[in-house]
Amino acid sequence: MSRTLTIPRPDDWHLHLRDGAVLRAVLPETARHFGRAIIMPNLVPPVVTGADAAAYRDRIMNALPAGMDFTPLMTLYLTEETDPEDVAAAHASGLVTSVKLYPAGATTNSASGVRDFDRVRPVLEKMAEIGMPLCVHGEVTDADIDIFDREAVFIDRVLDPLRRATPGLRIVMEHITTQQGVDYVKSNAENLGATITTHHLVINRNHILVGGIKPHYYCLPVAKREEHRLALRAAATSGDTRFFLGTDSAPHTDPNKESACGCAGCFTATNTLSILAEVFEQEGALDRLAGFTSEHGPAFYGLPVSTDTITLTKGDPAAYPPKIDTGDGPVTLFDAQMPLHWRVI
Ligand code: NCD
Ligand code: ZN
Repeated sequence: MSRTLTIPRPDDWHLHLRDGAVLRAVLPETARHFGRAIIMPNLVPPVVTGADAAAYRDRIMNALPAGMDFTPLMTLYLTEETDPEDVAAAHASGLVTSVKLYPAGATTNSASGVRDFDRVRPVLEKMAEIGMPLCVHGEVTDADIDIFDREAVFIDRVLDPLRRATPGLRIVMEHITTQQGVDYVKSNAENLGATITTHHLVINRNHILVGGIKPHYYCLPVAKREEHRLALRAAATSGDTRFFLGTDSAPHTDPNKESACGCAGCFTATNTLSILAEVFEQEGALDRLAGFTSEHGPAFYGLPVSTDTITLTKGDPAAYPPKIDTGDGPVTLFDAQMPLHWRVI
């Protein structure tokens, strides 16, 4: 078997870059390997209007080290006040690629998200009309729904009715974590895709809770039972074009993670491609890695596959620093708890 693998330059279809010092520290970690990324808008305050997205895009480009080539694909944070015409104009100008729907309270910085889905109907209809994709954080927030069931309940109670009410709306189910998520994508061929993170291919809920609480494995949606991890691995490595990489790399500084109320998010930008190559090799699917990281996402978003390439080689296990420094504090890198023989050269 060949010990090198050359694939089109990957894209990350779900990425948190933050702002300020953390942005400057984490952006090179992504731009080193990835050509484009869908940039999540959950800043404080969130990226709500086209003008907000233009300003954030400028801050990202200013933070990009000289000589690095990277295209941020901007998103808008959907609120009940979002103006359909502002969204359409930002999309038409090429500034904004998609809109992100957070149910209010579902995750980090989602307080401005949607409570009443009827109030965002005009935006969703406009997006369906202009072919603009909606990225969905698919979890209900009802206090009486167990956190491990929130994705499956969201599909039945919110996502399926929303899709039926808005035919033609292109939807990405972000960071799916369950067999139900996989099954829903597979049974609905039209206008539906899903991102899968790196860490959800590697950890299940035991990694968070067995032998002491491990805050750096806590993210949302929370990792589920092993059977769900296996369903995600099967989907990601299947070659099915509806599944593509969205790392959901979500840096929080250590004091914010290692706390009595630790933030959700795993930081995986630095070692994602090493981990994915290991996972795809374990599944006998290295020939499908390029589809997952570099081809299926552009096809869904109607963008060209990168004409650049990256090359991975297999050798002695790669050593990554356990943390990166940001100026705002250290951010711990996701530990896959396995030797990573593949690295990008
Ligand atoms: C994300 C964050 O920190 O912004 N956290 C996470 O656990 N994934 C928010 C999100 O994507 O849910
Ligand atoms: Zn996210």
